[in-house]
Amino acid sequence: MQLHRSKKVALKEQIDLSNLPKHVAIIMDGNGRWAKKKLMPRLFGHTNGVKTVKKIVEFARKLNVQVLTLYAFSTENWQRPEDEVSGLMKLLKLYLKQELDNMLRNDISLKVIGDISRLSPELQNDINDAVEKTKNNKALVLNIALNYGSRQEILRACKILIDKGIKNPTEKDFADCLYTKDLPDPDLLIRTSGEKRISNFLLWQIAYSEIYVTDVLWPDFSEEEFIKAILDYQKRERRFGKI
Ligand code: FPP
Repeated sequence: MQLHRSKKVALKEQIDLSNLPKHVAIIMDGNGRWAKKKLMPRLFGHTNGVKTVKKIVEFARKLNVQVLTLYAFSTENWQRPEDEVSGLMKLLKLYLKQELDNMLRNDISLKVIGDISRLSPELQNDINDAVEKTKNNKALVLNIALNYGSRQEILRACKILIDKGIKNPTEKDFADCLYTKDLPDPDLLIRTSGEKRISNFLLWQIAYSEIYVTDVLWPDFSEEEFIKAILDYQKRERRFGKI
């Protein structure tokens, strides 16, 4: 235990606090596989995935990361078995109920990206309530992607541009029509559980993001793994297309 703790402290001390990613986005993959390995139902994996969410939000807050975006439910996830979808919705509802006080205490502002109109009216209410109550918090933006799909977001942006009558949009005009309009682009995109795909996530916004893939399954993702991702990011030289 002591050895484990000191290893984490030693890793944490290597972080260059002047070069932290401002915005970290995470594709939280592997809950199902984690549960399967334990011969448990998939929902057991998601339940443990929520525990990881709580730990990582707390840690991002401590580290002074400014925005943490978590891919919780994609537009494609509706195709999963009904009991898994309803289980995920229940977990989200519970998460909001359990964490609202914590967000208020810790100066965390909740935002949601995606089309939440397809969620139950009660869940929409809970989301809107938490977003409203935390909107002036400043330390960390916790941005949860819910019924989110990047192609849907891009098409929606095109329609908004048309409605605004903008015929020759700039990149800024376009970005202003995305769900993420008030947020910086992610500096670091983390994907757990080894798959090297983007899965329709923030296609416009990750144009220059550094990508970090780890084999660790989301329920096993830890502060230590998060530090490793940040250290890997800090080793890279970001050129944004320049030389
Ligand atoms: C991917 O694992 C994970 C999801 C589709 C859901 C992620 C949701 C949570 C972690 C819980 C709810 C989130 C919040 C913010 C409270 P998978 O099921 O695709 O895993 P697999 O690829 O191993 O099957």
